[in-house]
Amino acid sequence: MELTREEEALLSGEGGGGLQKAMEILASIGDINDAEQLIPVKRVQISGVSYKTIGDAGLEFLSDMASLGAKTSVYSTLNPAGIDLDQKNQDVPQRFVEKQRQILEAYTRLGAKPSCTCTPYLAGNTPDFEEHIAFAESSAVAYANSALGARTNRESAITALASAITGRTPLYGLHLDENRTPKLAVRVSENMKSVNDYSTLGYYIGKQYDAIPLFKGIQPGVEGMKALSAGLATGKVSMFHIEGVTPNPIDEVEDLEVVEYGEVERRKVKDELDTCEEPDILCIGCPHCTINEIKQVIAAKPDREVWVYTSRAVKKQLHEKIKNPNIRLISDTCMVVQPLEEMGINSLGTNSTKCAYYTKTLSGLDVKFDKLENLL
Ligand code: F3S
Repeated sequence: MELTREEEALLSGEGGGGLQKAMEILASIGDINDAEQLIPVKRVQISGVSYKTIGDAGLEFLSDMASLGAKTSVYSTLNPAGIDLDQKNQDVPQRFVEKQRQILEAYTRLGAKPSCTCTPYLAGNTPDFEEHIAFAESSAVAYANSALGARTNRESAITALASAITGRTPLYGLHLDENRTPKLAVRVSENMKSVNDYSTLGYYIGKQYDAIPLFKGIQPGVEGMKALSAGLATGKVSMFHIEGVTPNPIDEVEDLEVVEYGEVERRKVKDELDTCEEPDILCIGCPHCTINEIKQVIAAKPDREVWVYTSRAVKKQLHEKIKNPNIRLISDTCMVVQPLEEMGINSLGTNSTKCAYYTKTLSGLDVKFDKLENLL
């Protein structure tokens, strides 16, 4: 990869040990992926925030980077942590809470904004059309590339942090026009009404295909697009097009392989993910809920415990309005990166394929997977 004189200097340590390490990470990722150069980015979303997912090794890496004097040089926000920062978290093991706070302190020393949401694009970190960015949350990657027309690869926690520090990312993959064209047409005959429908569609395609899909016959709003992004990203897909909806130009769409999606395919996903009759709690908000989604939960007047996950900004707006003691509004974390299995929870109900999949595989919980109206 061709580096500028300034980048060479940073790589040789002239900007300090933290910048040097960050440059080393990006230079090797660029070389592996045949990138010709680094390009500037002005915004980053960093994953790897929960103690559950990064553990002591991750905490040590972040503390080392902070001790080396590394600092973010561009607007950098964080993914969900393992606890709600407003709460006492008495149901979470105290060692976990302490370690989590140390991780957030390290990120704050590094200069990242502890926004702790997986929907940064709805909470102030919103890229422009065709803006090059470095996002690490897979659902936000798919949303930014597709719904907003920004350009990002699916970054890891480490490469996103390196981009936050250097303000650069290697030019390859979804940053390039030629890698953003659809390779698959998906004809949807199912009646798409809820976020669960979009989540299921995304999961089905994302698990079966490693190609950018072009959807036909759907018209999702923000919530549907968010659910579709997360479902696709639970598999291998980091970008999609929707005919007449998404802003990216669609060229070369002759002779695409056509996939049909209808009731049979929806049922396959339901049969795979829905394995529990009576869950301990319901968890809504994967990805984090919008105001509209929370209003839907409130309107349903649930008479059983519902944990609703959202961003700090949305929680602030709705906190006072929730009078139903069964609804617990939670920010800064999510049901997947919280240590639910250490909090006495054995099973949960959800309308999200991403939540269902990772709750089973990462946390070992049993899952009831269904539409919101059937869960509440
Ligand atoms: Fe967000 Fe957690 Fe789901 S980070 S996309 S709520 S797994």
